[in-house]
Amino acid sequence: MKRKIFLTFLIVLLTFIATADKFYIFVDSLNMRTCPSVNCSVVKTLHFKDVVNSTGKAEYTPSFDWIEVEGGWVSLQYIDYLPMKVNGNLPIDFDMNYSDSPLPPEYEPNDLVEIPAEYCFKPELKLRKEAEEALVQMLNAAKKAGYEIIVVSAYRSWYYQRNLYLDAIIKYGPDQTAVAKPGRSEHQLGLAVDLARKDGKCLLLKCFKNTPEYRWLVNNSYKFGFVQPYFKYNILYMEEPWHFRYIGKEAANEFYETYIKSRENM
Ligand code: DAL
Ligand code: ZN
Repeated sequence: MKRKIFLTFLIVLLTFIATADKFYIFVDSLNMRTCPSVNCSVVKTLHFKDVVNSTGKAEYTPSFDWIEVEGGWVSLQYIDYLPMKVNGNLPIDFDMNYSDSPLPPEYEPNDLVEIPAEYCFKPELKLRKEAEEALVQMLNAAKKAGYEIIVVSAYRSWYYQRNLYLDAIIKYGPDQTAVAKPGRSEHQLGLAVDLARKDGKCLLLKCFKNTPEYRWLVNNSYKFGFVQPYFKYNILYMEEPWHFRYIGKEAANEFYETYIKSRENM
């Protein structure tokens, strides 16, 4: 038994050492340069899924962040740690935000179902079955209370997320915190939704926070298993009052007690 524990520990340690300083390229092509600037000459062009070894050196410039790898420098905005290996669906309460490695491009839960069109801003929005059932219950309860809330975005494939991320870099610059890197979005888990008022007022805008629909969601979403992870004081992304993540009732209740209840002015 002891030997088995030791061997497991050794394998985990060796895997960590072998992958900790490796990065993979997640864009179609990326230039490796002689120094950390777009003005430096190109050593070679790397391609999607190429793997590079970091030397441990980094440079943070006003435009891009750079890391030195064996052979040259690459922009940190277009690379990430090697994706995790996933067999089957991830657990419902899987914490995407504090995972070292991103989801692999192939990860797509096998229990995605379409959210009925009457609750959606556009057709064919999907979520994992358990989350979809809880969402429909939540939106029906909101309607009963007088609030018409619809879904603007739900499951997003890795490739769709990559397009959003690259567009956001062009629009807001490399330090943007509006869109997650591909493989790092809760939307790829099939467990996150962006919600809005049915009339579209304050759609994906901060002013959604000032609407009664938002207030209802803050006070009630946890009862259906949803939480709002990107609240004002989160350290990962800009504040996103419209983004709700399904984690199950028990975990959501704990999240509400820990983060939300005490912050009346969130
Ligand atoms: N907007 C959130 C952070 C996402 O892209 O998943
Ligand atoms: Zn979202």
